[in-house]
Amino acid sequence: MKTTRLLVLGLCAALMPALGSAAGGGASLDEFESTDSKRSLQRGARVFLNYCLGCHTADYHRYSRMATDIGLSDEFVADNMIFTTDKEGDATKVGALMASSMTEDYGEKSFGIVPPNLALTARSRGVDWLYTYMRSFYLDESRPFGANNVVLPQVGMPHVLAHLQGWQTANYEDRDGQEVFTGFEKLTRGELSPDEYDGLIRDLVSFMDYLGDPNRATRHAVGFWVMLFLIIFLVLAIMLKKEYWKDVRH
Ligand code: HEC
Repeated sequence: MKTTRLLVLGLCAALMPALGSAAGGGASLDEFESTDSKRSLQRGARVFLNYCLGCHTADYHRYSRMATDIGLSDEFVADNMIFTTDKEGDATKVGALMASSMTEDYGEKSFGIVPPNLALTARSRGVDWLYTYMRSFYLDESRPFGANNVVLPQVGMPHVLAHLQGWQTANYEDRDGQEVFTGFEKLTRGELSPDEYDGLIRDLVSFMDYLGDPNRATRHAVGFWVMLFLIIFLVLAIMLKKEYWKDVRH
């Protein structure tokens, strides 16, 4: 019984990377490089709370915990980074969950699909997928909001950062009856240069990566001391063993 379970687990682990790349919608994914800095997380949080929480929710997290983890004070977050209201219409408190103001019903009516909870997307889709997705919107008049996406074809989400990135079109080529994505072509300039936009998305994905695993930094910090303790303990244990056995003849 135990071995069967282990085998199934092993098989799932082996299949995970294959599933990840299958979610790429045919396009290859760009590699996300984490900067791991608090500044990057803070900028990412600003983008996320400004642009994403209007439609999406991330209500497994509280603002106050997020503030502590990314090095900001509760007051700063309450004054500058909370844009939602609670059910009574009052400004959301800093101890509250990071929920969207939009109801699921309203989301469904407006977009035909409820915008998914983004708290764990960095884990379910992977950071490379997210990084590529947020840079792969393109102009497509046939879509209800005028935008399509190379890694999530027929996407229901508008290109909410179009004013920053500018607009691009996507080129596809017919190869043996299959539409293959061959590259983007810039149509209009955005407020940011392509490098600046990539940097902004890197910060946003860093923040979403943190949301997916908020304890990682603590775990790594504690892990260092635990390993150090184990190494010191090992030396002590070896010395103790030698001391006990020194008078015993083999
Ligand atoms: C105007 C509403 C709206 C805003 C604002 C918005 N989204 Fe979306 N988003 C949607 C909708 C609707 C979907 C569902 C799309 C689909 O499945 O076709 C979606 C889907 C997604 C997905 C795909 C999730 C998955 O696993 O399928 C990601 C990732 C995402 N949004 C990230 C973001 C980020 C990051 C921001 C902020 C920069 C943002 N969204 C802002 C409406 C929005």
